[in-house]
Amino acid sequence: GPSPDRPAPLQGRCALITAGPTREPLDPVRFIGNRSSGRMGYALAAALAARGAEVTLVSGPSALAPPALAGLVRVETASQMAAAVMERVAGCDLFVATAAVADYRPAAPASDKIKKDAAELTIRLVRNPDILAQVAASPARPFTVGFAAETERLEEHAAAKLRAKGLDMIAANRVGGEAGGFDADDNALVVLWPGGRRAFALMPKTRLAEQLADLIVERYLASLA
Ligand code: CTP
Ligand code: CA
Repeated sequence: GPSPDRPAPLQGRCALITAGPTREPLDPVRFIGNRSSGRMGYALAAALAARGAEVTLVSGPSALAPPALAGLVRVETASQMAAAVMERVAGCDLFVATAAVADYRPAAPASDKIKKDAAELTIRLVRNPDILAQVAASPARPFTVGFAAETERLEEHAAAKLRAKGLDMIAANRVGGEAGGFDADDNALVVLWPGGRRAFALMPKTRLAEQLADLIVERYLASLA
């Protein structure tokens, strides 16, 4: 962790982090969302800032008080999050995608409140941009870290995402169960990178963020060497 007698390892480096859920509007008063609290992303943003990075946090709607950072950008939809990230990613040294981005959005949000006229309602959804994949494919891209939220075959799915998106590192966590994950105080992670693996036991997200930040620093500095 950071210590007063050692120079901050990320001094002079810039980090861009996405966090929280996105909201995809169905009509002016309703949206499709998810259970992400933003806790992991906010804690990681604070941990990277404590290691000297100039951190910008691009956050979907979260009830959390944001940590003191160089920048905070609040967004609602995946498209807004994608635009906010792509505007700021050039020249960044680190990108960490912790956000629970909606994979789909309503194709045509209603301009007025949807009335319950019919017995059934079908809503057509279209794919959202994959922010992490876009960053990973961008020219002179930053050291790029993703998360993988899985309910089953955790490591297999995470390894596939690491490879398919061409990431430098991926942190996999189990969601939707008893053991941490979304909207929980505690979390456990398995972190994978090309040629490496480290498991972190279930612990409070703030402590986990400190340990993950140390691993990100370690792998980032190794990528420069
Ligand atoms: N992600 C993103 N933009 C999206 C979807 C996901 O940036 N439109 C990022 C997340 O922030 C996370 C990683 O991609 O870091 C993996 O998200 P996840 O939902 O686990 O995987 P997907 O690639 O979306 O695939 P699937 O949901 O089908 O498992
Ligand atoms: Ca997804």
